[in-house]
Amino acid sequence: MPRCHWRVAARSAIVDPMEITPSPPPVCLADFAALARTVLPPPVWDYVDGGSGTEVTLGHNRAALDRVGVLPRMLTGVATPSLRTRLLGREYAMPVGVAPMAYQRLVHPDGEPALAAAAGAAGVPYLASILGSTPIEQVTATGAEVWFQLYWLRERALVVDLLARVRDAGCRALVVTVDVPVLGRRRRDLRNAFRLPPELVAANLPGGRDDLAHGGTPGVTQVTVDSGAAFAPALSWADLRWLGEHCDLPLIVKGLLDPVDAVRAAEAGAQAVVVSNHGGRQLDGAPASVTMLPEVVAAVGDRCEVLLDSGIRGGVDVLRALALGAAGVLVGRPMLWALASGGQAGAGTALALLADELRDALALAGCADPAAARQLRTVPMG
Ligand code: FNR
Ligand code: LAC
Repeated sequence: MPRCHWRVAARSAIVDPMEITPSPPPVCLADFAALARTVLPPPVWDYVDGGSGTEVTLGHNRAALDRVGVLPRMLTGVATPSLRTRLLGREYAMPVGVAPMAYQRLVHPDGEPALAAAAGAAGVPYLASILGSTPIEQVTATGAEVWFQLYWLRERALVVDLLARVRDAGCRALVVTVDVPVLGRRRRDLRNAFRLPPELVAANLPGGRDDLAHGGTPGVTQVTVDSGAAFAPALSWADLRWLGEHCDLPLIVKGLLDPVDAVRAAEAGAQAVVVSNHGGRQLDGAPASVTMLPEVVAAVGDRCEVLLDSGIRGGVDVLRALALGAAGVLVGRPMLWALASGGQAGAGTALALLADELRDALALAGCADPAAARQLRTVPMG
């Protein structure tokens, strides 16, 4: 592993890195959490780390993954598994993508381009949030494979303009997130009256919504107030069909848990769905994503690809998702931890660790590649 990847980036506004006791190099994604926590201002840590309500869904995402036992196969003659994977008709280095996450300059000044460049170097897709703090053109300029994530804007004409911009920027897919009719009630952010620092803007929103999320009213999180103003709350299947007809990029629907919704999404033109509860940030009390994965996989059959996110923290979790029938996974918070603590190099180290863990997990389970992992049996643990 290259030296110093885990060193904390110097950011005068946050913490003097000289005050931080040097840490041993991370050996797993969780190690980046401890590093990130030392450099991020507490309200930013809470925004990234937190879930909605009592955070019961947030907790269950991990607990449910830990209950998935994977039955390894022996004597399969596999030495070094290949991680290469086809998603949406394109080949990637492993069945993993970087989940779309808003305002990445909150955690590191290099923000979205740094995380995208790390994803590009690792050969995995980078999902760019419409709430990015860097214009999408600067993200695709890194050369990464970028999938653009859309929240539906209240004005359809603005969606049309944005779709043209996304296509011209060279994005490879459009991901429409459907689990945010309103933002979940995140108590930590409410208590912190969370708001963005003045220098951060939602750089992709038409009209440069630089007023977005900057206010600061006690008991109110400005991300909620201003997302509510920009995004349409009442998206319907008709809107999704319209999107399929007006966008020539592959369409992915993110944020489904019910198999009935997944089938409808495929029928409306989605080439993939992401089984997700938004990392426990939306409906508190929704089941863990992985709990719903097998039913979704069974329901959609060959109609579309199924991806999973929420709680993925290592190679064994990717193996679990594959064994339950997913085509791949998205990783959220760990990528922000790694970006926060080491910029692009930190994110690159995190993705390299994930690849190493997945390669070992496949080898230990007797699988030559991710497709073989989808044939494994799972058993409930505990
Ligand atoms: C998110 N997520 C998210 N999803 C989305 O579609 N658009 C967005 O702008 C954001 N923003 C966002 C910000 C932050 C700080 C987090 C932590 C998450 C949800 C994200 O894409 C993904 O669904 C979850 O993060 C996956 O769960 P884990 O891996 O974080 O447990
Ligand atoms: C979040 C939004 C913005 O989860 O998707 O914070």
